[in-house]
Amino acid sequence: MTLAALGGAPLFDKNRHGKWPQVTDADKRAVMEVLDRGILSGSDAPAARAFQDEFARLHGAKFALLTHSGTSALQVAVGALGIGEGDEVIVPAYSFVATALAVIQQGAIPVFVDVLPETGNMDPSKIEAAISPRTKAIMPVHVHGCPCDLGPIGAIAEKHGLFLIEDAAQAHLATYEGKPVGTFGQGAGFSLQSSKNLSAGEGGLYVTNDEALLERANQVRNFAQNLVRADSAHYNLDRPLDGHKALVSLGIGSMYRGNEMMAAFGKSQLARLPELTKKAQDNGHRLAKALRELPGVMPPAIPDNRTTVFHKYRVWLDGQAAGVDLSPEQLRDATIKALRAEGCEVVMWQAEPLPSFPLFGELKGFGKGFPFAFHGSSPSDTERLRANYHASYPVTRKLLHSSLVLFSQTCPLIAQDAATVDLYADAFRKVWSDRKRLVEIAKG
Ligand SMILES: Cc1ncc(COP(=O)(O)O)c(C=O)c1O
Repeated sequence: MTLAALGGAPLFDKNRHGKWPQVTDADKRAVMEVLDRGILSGSDAPAARAFQDEFARLHGAKFALLTHSGTSALQVAVGALGIGEGDEVIVPAYSFVATALAVIQQGAIPVFVDVLPETGNMDPSKIEAAISPRTKAIMPVHVHGCPCDLGPIGAIAEKHGLFLIEDAAQAHLATYEGKPVGTFGQGAGFSLQSSKNLSAGEGGLYVTNDEALLERANQVRNFAQNLVRADSAHYNLDRPLDGHKALVSLGIGSMYRGNEMMAAFGKSQLARLPELTKKAQDNGHRLAKALRELPGVMPPAIPDNRTTVFHKYRVWLDGQAAGVDLSPEQLRDATIKALRAEGCEVVMWQAEPLPSFPLFGELKGFGKGFPFAFHGSSPSDTERLRANYHASYPVTRKLLHSSLVLFSQTCPLIAQDAATVDLYADAFRKVWSDRKRLVEIAKG
């Protein structure tokens, strides 16, 4: 069969893909109930409380707080810990930019470390070299839904007296040593953006086991106000926005609350999350089994002591093992073209390490250098930072140049039936059986 990229027939019709998020009648009813009740917002509104409680319960956490995005959930986590001007937070070079931006928005400084080739997660062996007297926290990412090395990273945090904040934006219900991610450190942020395994359109959840942090996080989320809690005698469900006292701001906060429609929609989706997570896992393992048979094709690696939720499905290509005489980027791009022509959804997601973004190259920050330059910073602080942002991050670079992401934000793995997943295996087999011709595709 001629490859579709070279004029053959596509293996399957793209339109068979399941789209995400899936909206059921129960989801619609849940949102309608909110609209009928007429309470649409509030720091302690009922749909948000019900969603937070259920999310926390499922993740083995004591508390959760709804925010308007995963980014604001991470900001709330950073802010609750009092991290700000002149403080550094260690983050991985491979992630979505929000990981670093959440730190910057709180006035602190992200410092990057490279990742592990197998999982793309923060490399624990690189962390200690990045610690300085200004370091306050480590914020690893459970990238693509595979938990990072929480044991070793947690031990480093403890040894150096640092906070651990999990960026769990992509990792709802993923487990490390049998326990769901989110409570291994002082706080965590999850995302509810449309493509995520748990979606509310947009939104996020901050999670913690520490009640004092919860209080502070709630303030960061609400203009830093001295709020009245829903379990207080003064809270009135009929007048959820009208407190018994005028509120004052105790410090700097912002407005990062979610609304009641997103909470109801998220909670309704949450009821299906365990079942859908299992489906994503079955799909992921099924595809991995088929791809592993192909020379030079490596499906996502999952270390023994954890479960992944396959939020994204990154596949490594090794041209040498495959016997294809192309550079890693050429092989990646030609394979993307060939698979897309067969009907597959394939994306890059990220193309370069985060520190190579112009945001970090020029150290302009908010305009005049803050937060990279701050009150009391010295030329040696700036030099150290510049060196960190201009370093090469070879593992991240190699990972991004030698791999592709199967499925897309609109049509992720979790939304597909087993037959579609099998067609991806067939498409890969078809392209790989004629892989010498990837050279023509690369050149033409
Ligand atoms: C790793 C990571 N961190 C943070 C975020 C931010 O989440 P949101 O888009 O909900 O703000 C995302 C989402 O795209 C992400 O993938």
